[in-house]
Amino acid sequence: MADLVVTIDGPAAGGKSTVARLLTEKLDAVFLDTGAMYRAVTLAATQAKVSLSDQGRLLEILKATEFGFKPARGAMEVSINGRDVTEQIRDEKVTANARHIASAPKIREELVRMQRDFAARQQAIVTEGRDQGTVAFPDADVKFYLTADLAERAKRRRAELAAKGAEQSLESIKEAIRQRDRSDENRTVGPLKPADDAIVVDTTDLSIEEVVAKLLNCIRER
Ligand code: DC
Repeated sequence: MADLVVTIDGPAAGGKSTVARLLTEKLDAVFLDTGAMYRAVTLAATQAKVSLSDQGRLLEILKATEFGFKPARGAMEVSINGRDVTEQIRDEKVTANARHIASAPKIREELVRMQRDFAARQQAIVTEGRDQGTVAFPDADVKFYLTADLAERAKRRRAELAAKGAEQSLESIKEAIRQRDRSDENRTVGPLKPADDAIVVDTTDLSIEEVVAKLLNCIRER
């Protein structure tokens, strides 16, 4: 296991990735974006035209596919059978469909195993997702749970989409996030919730820089 494991969990569009990336740079650590893993399996299954509710077939796809999760500076490059899909997994359809993959217990089991393998090869790691502090790394050195009001998360998501040239109404973004929250919180395996020993940070009124500074302080105090 890595010498330093920091977990960041929390609901969709709460700014986890940006914070995790910046924290990774400050700590000279490697970033593991576990959402990207669920997204990659979603994309591979869609490309293979496999029903997203057929767990047996999904598991076959997962085992037969060569996924690349490569640490890049402050980010993670993702490939499927050697083809770069780092951008493609951010697609709106993949975003909406990933919750089906995330609810499949056997897929989660396999991805958690891959996450632990990945961590074992690093010296310091910042890992981000929904179940990193609860399931994947219960013995992590420092655990964070980032939350923000739904309205604020929707605003942040809209700004992110606008930067990519995609316009969407605030209400439709809110509804999509609400749906993802519901699915994340209610699945039986690896549901979204703070670990008992997680530091919960409400980022609604904080800038990214303020959040990063707060997390760094907590890490240094430990
Ligand atoms: O964080 P994200 O939006 O990239 O996550 C994509 C999907 O994967 C989302 O439906 C939540 C799910 N997910 C999960 O269930 N467990 C994780 N550790 C990370 C992501």
